[in-house]
Amino acid sequence: MAKGTNGIAVRASGAPALEIEADLLALPVFEDELRGGGAGQVRALDALLDGAVRAAAKAERFEGKAGQELRLDANGKVPAGRVLLLGLGARAKASEALAASGYEPLRAAAGQAGRAAVKLGAKALAVAIPELGGGDAALAARASAEGALLGAYAFRRYKTDDRPPALAALIVGVPAGAERTRAVKDALALAQEIAGAVTWARDLVNLGPADCTPTLLAETAAALAKQAGLHVEVRGPKELQALKMGMFLGVARGSAEPPRLVRVSWIPRGAAARKRPLVLVGKALTFDSGGLSLKPTDSMVTMNTDMAGSAAVLGAMRVVAALEPPFPVHAVLGACENMPGGRAYKPSDVLVSYAGKTVEIVNTDAEGRLVLGDVLAWAAETLAPAAIVDVATLTGACMVGLGLTTAGLFGPEGPLVDQVLAAARAAGEDVWRMPMTEALEEQLKSDRADLKNTGERFGGAITAAHFLHAFVKDVPWAHLDIAGPSHARKERGYVPKGGTGFGIRTLVELVRRYDA
Ligand code: BES
Ligand code: MN
Ligand code: ZN
Repeated sequence: MAKGTNGIAVRASGAPALEIEADLLALPVFEDELRGGGAGQVRALDALLDGAVRAAAKAERFEGKAGQELRLDANGKVPAGRVLLLGLGARAKASEALAASGYEPLRAAAGQAGRAAVKLGAKALAVAIPELGGGDAALAARASAEGALLGAYAFRRYKTDDRPPALAALIVGVPAGAERTRAVKDALALAQEIAGAVTWARDLVNLGPADCTPTLLAETAAALAKQAGLHVEVRGPKELQALKMGMFLGVARGSAEPPRLVRVSWIPRGAAARKRPLVLVGKALTFDSGGLSLKPTDSMVTMNTDMAGSAAVLGAMRVVAALEPPFPVHAVLGACENMPGGRAYKPSDVLVSYAGKTVEIVNTDAEGRLVLGDVLAWAAETLAPAAIVDVATLTGACMVGLGLTTAGLFGPEGPLVDQVLAAARAAGEDVWRMPMTEALEEQLKSDRADLKNTGERFGGAITAAHFLHAFVKDVPWAHLDIAGPSHARKERGYVPKGGTGFGIRTLVELVRRYDA
C-alpha cells in the first residue's frame, strides 16, 4: 500500500462492496436503487440488515438525491462497522453527465464520505464506485479517491488542541478484477498526487498574511522545488528595479514586506528541454487591503486568500514534477502585499510598466492586473512560451457574474482557451467561458497615459482581462479568474470552508493533454 502525500494510504479492492473491511463503508447510490423493493447495493444491504435500510430511508426521507446521506448501523452484519449511503441523483441524468464532468458526482459523494470519516474518527474508509454500466472504472476510481482525500482535509495549523488525524487508509471499491489493472493503479496514484497538491495549496491559502508573506511564499516555492527536483529562481526588490517592473513595484511600495518574483521550472532531459515551454502564472497578493482605495472591513477579511492563484500554479508544479512531461513547464509569480501607508502608490500616479507602457492609476484596489501585467510581459519576453495560462483572484465582478463556485475563462479565440475548457471539464472543475467584449476595451483608455487600470463597474471581469491581454502581446494566452471558487464560505462535497485549491486539477489535466 503506497503512503499518500496526505498520509493516507490508498488502495483498490475488487471485493463485493459489502464485504470490504473498514470502519466506515460509503456506498454512493442512484435514486432508482431506492425505488420499490430497492435495487443493486441497496437491495443487497437491505436483505443483510433485515429491511433496516428501507425503513431508515423512509423514516429519514432518503431518496438518493444528490447531496443526501443516510447513516446506518451495520450491527455486525457487514464487516464495516458503519455504512453511509450517499445520493447520486437520477441514474440517467448522472450517467450521461458523469463521464462528461470527469465523474464529478462521485468526487462530491466521496468528499462527503471523507468528511464523515474524519468526524467519526474512522481509521479506514471504504468508498465503493457504483455500477456504471459501461463507464470508465479507472476514472471513477480516481474521482472517488480524490473526493475522499480532499473531503478528509482539515486546516488545523492554528488549533492548539493537537488531535492527530485518525484516517490512515482509503479503500476504493472497484469491479472485481479491476483492482489489478494498470489503469486503476495509475488512476489512484494520480489521485494521490493531485490530492496531495490540492491540500498543500489549501494549507498555503489558509495561512494568515503575517505567516504567508511574499518572503515565505518564495521560500515555500524554493523548498518545493528542492524536494520535487525542480529549478527555482527568486528575485527581490533590487532586481525588480533593474528589470523596471514599475507596476509590480508600485503595488508593493506601500508594504513593509519586500516583493518577490519567483520562477519554478520543470525542464525535461535531452532535446525536449529546448521545446517551447508552457508557462503558468499565478496572482500572489499575500494580502490585498485595497491600498489607499481601502476595502471595507468585511471585504478585507478573506484577502489573505488573494494569493490562491499562485498556490494553484505551485501546487500544479508538484504534480508536473511527478508527471515528467516531455516539454518545459514554468510557474511564475509576483508576490507582494497591497497596503496603504506613507509610501503607498496613489490614485493619479502614473506607473511605467516593464513593457514600457504607462498606466494611470484610478483605483489602487485594481492591483492584481498591475502585478500580473509586469509578470506576464516578462514571461512572454524572456521564456519564449508556447502558451501562457494565468490563474488569478482578479475581480469581484466575476463572482457577481458567475457565482461563487464557477471560474471565468478569458482569452482570444484560438485552441488554448478551448484546451483549458476541455481540461477543466475532464478534471471536474467548474469553468465558464467569458467573452472578450471589444467595446469594453475602450474603457481602459486614459487621457494622461497609455492606459488606466480600471474601467466602469459593469463588465469589470472583462476589462480586467483586456488589461492583462495588453501585456502578453501575441503569445497564446488564457486567463482564469478564480475570485469565486478559490475560497468557500461553507463546506460542500469535497470542498472545505476556506481555501479550496481550485485550478490545480485543470492545470494538471492541461499539462497531461498538452502536445508541445
Ligand atoms: N483581490 C480582489 C478581487 C477579489 C474580490 C477576490 C473578492 C476575491 C474576493 C481584486 O484585487 C480587487 O480588489 N478587484 C476590484 C477591482 C476594481 C477596483 C476595479 C474589485 O473586484 O472590486
Ligand atoms: Mn484589489
Ligand atoms: Zn486583489
